[in-house]
Amino acid sequence: MENKINEIKKAFLSELEACCDLKSLENVKNKYLSRNSEFNNLKKGLKDLPNEQKPIIGALLNKISNELNELVNKKNDFFYKKELDEKLKKEKIDVTLDGDYIPTGHVHPLTQTINEITTIFEHLGFSLIKPQYSPEVEVEKYNFDLLNFPKEHPAKDMQDTFYCENASNVILRSQTSNAQVRQMMNSKPPIKIISPGRVYRNEAVSARKNNLFHQIEGLYVDKGVTMAQLKGVLNEFIRLYFGSSRPTRFRSSYFPFTEPSVEIDVQCIMCKGEGCPTCSGTGWLEILGAGMVDPNVLKGVEINPDIYSGFAFGMGVERLTMLKYAIDDIRLFFNNDVRFLKQF
Ligand code: DAH
Repeated sequence: MENKINEIKKAFLSELEACCDLKSLENVKNKYLSRNSEFNNLKKGLKDLPNEQKPIIGALLNKISNELNELVNKKNDFFYKKELDEKLKKEKIDVTLDGDYIPTGHVHPLTQTINEITTIFEHLGFSLIKPQYSPEVEVEKYNFDLLNFPKEHPAKDMQDTFYCENASNVILRSQTSNAQVRQMMNSKPPIKIISPGRVYRNEAVSARKNNLFHQIEGLYVDKGVTMAQLKGVLNEFIRLYFGSSRPTRFRSSYFPFTEPSVEIDVQCIMCKGEGCPTCSGTGWLEILGAGMVDPNVLKGVEINPDIYSGFAFGMGVERLTMLKYAIDDIRLFFNNDVRFLKQF
């Protein structure tokens, strides 16, 4: 029995010596020290030995077993450390090396304009509307009726507005003014918000017009709001957005939801004179409509027009961007030609 034990130990030692990594060590460990190993079988056979031999052989088996386990553990620690060191060496990164260049895109020019205008109005005390008050898919009531549009107004015509085929009063909003109504229905004055977003019109696409474009709506309702304040705010906006040198003009106009109403034009800086595709040769481009909120609109949203008044405006984001950077065709914003987009 003793010989057998020594034989196993010898074989174990020579195989242990030949181990070169954790994996081969694991194999040796399984072969010599697992439950089904020859060595363990000797332990199981103890019970069949004559009584006087049991304690001697038992003690020897335990001693050798401890020795072998200790040797395996030592080797295990050694290989573990060695493999870890190698891994760390291999995976070491030199943080002083130059990084790889990862080309990044950038913000679309229209989004840049929206961000810029939003910041200007935030400085003037306006806050951004909650998105749920400014939906793009809308019902006629908020896009037209509560904005004082008469039942038969031509803007409601299918030639001008996109209607949903399956639900006749569902439309793609034709203006961001729907946000005014929803905001006023859901909050009490003072109200001072702006609402940027997409709008849709069913019209022929040209250098000046696309059937999807962007507007920024503004609304200020409080006691004693005046037309002079409207003019002051919009003049300040133009000064900050264009710089003071840009010629502009206020024109009286008409919108069903404002009284009185105005429009602001900015001089066409890319004007090609008579027949200019951008301004139709007029020399001016309209950038926004505005006015004092019609008392009928206030009544419709249960704000008392004898106590409160307000002004509102809606500006065209594409037009404002075209005028700032001398872009002569609105379609460039939507074609996604990187040669164009890269310039901003
Ligand atoms: N919604 C108008 C349009 O799309 C623009 C406009 C005019 C907005 C006057 C207003 C306003 O808020 O007061 O042409």
